[in-house]
Amino acid sequence: MDDKTAVITGAASGIGLALAKKLSGQGHRLVLADVDLGRLKDIKGAVDSKSILVDCDVSKESDCEELARVTRENFGAPQLLFNNAGVISRFASTWEQPSAEWERVLSVNVKGVANVLRVFVPSMLSQQASSHIINTASEAALTSRGFVGTYHASKHAVLAISEALAQELSYLKAKVRVSVLCPGGVNTGVLDGLSDEVERTGDASGKASQALERAYRKSLPKAMSPDDVADRVLQGVVNGDFYIFSHPEVALLPELRASAVKENEYPSLPAGLQQQMVEHGDDANGPTRSS
Ligand SMILES: NC(=O)c1ccc[n+]([C@@H]2O[C@H](COP(=O)([O-])OP(=O)(O)OC[C@H]3O[C@@H](n4cnc5c(N)ncnc54)[C@H](O)[C@@H]3O)[C@@H](O)[C@H]2O)c1
Repeated sequence: MDDKTAVITGAASGIGLALAKKLSGQGHRLVLADVDLGRLKDIKGAVDSKSILVDCDVSKESDCEELARVTRENFGAPQLLFNNAGVISRFASTWEQPSAEWERVLSVNVKGVANVLRVFVPSMLSQQASSHIINTASEAALTSRGFVGTYHASKHAVLAISEALAQELSYLKAKVRVSVLCPGGVNTGVLDGLSDEVERTGDASGKASQALERAYRKSLPKAMSPDDVADRVLQGVVNGDFYIFSHPEVALLPELRASAVKENEYPSLPAGLQQQMVEHGDDANGPTRSS
């Protein structure tokens, strides 16, 4: 990759931070955006001193407009745009998930992605240089999972937005390429803010949801490192891949879904996951509330 201007949302932690460090090491100009300004300031020493740090909540259109303005005034249009900021939803069944939580997750994961595209794509289209947009979806875009369905619904939307965007830009013969990153588990801080959300909106989740959350919390520290994911993302950009699979097993999920559709299989949680939920305290006896 040559010397480029890169914008990364959700850059203060996890995958975004790993990307920022790697791109900084390669000499690119960085605009790093995050809603957590304190954490963003903490990473200052880890990236090139000319990097610009922007306090930006991607769910707010005005923050995204400001992010685009700061980028334009300092570096012009970006050649790399990482639409990475995202949050996981509270673990809850579809009918127990509070409306406020649907709103929080869809505002960041779906509206946030759209906001960032709206403010940056016009300038990317008008520049001479080729450019690349990388939207972070998840394996959750390719398969559905009970008791964390809000997150999966939001990531299915990110995949649909990315596919539509790629079709639009290639129809227009634009020099803007699109990738969608679909990682499996990554050892980041993605579960850290959840307890605050539960405290804020009250615990409405049943035993099964709580058991699934415990299973996720146990497995995440053993998951792939954000550094390894960032390496695979940057290689995917060089290759011009549309789908970027950091975890090879995730690439098999569409085949499983296609076969389930063909056979008209009724959905159920994978047996291995049900077993883990029992091991983490669910009695598998239906939707009893623990509180
Ligand atoms: N960790 C995983 O297992 C995993 C798996 C698949 C996909 N993802 C996706 O990867 C992306 C990065 O997550 P991560 O795992 O590095 O988590 P993380 O929590 O470590 O990093 C996410 C960053 O995004 C920021 N952020 C949250 N809401 C924001 C908002 N409204 N505006 C701007 N910034 C915001 C957070 O402050 C944080 O710094 C997310 O889109 C997530 O859904 C993560």
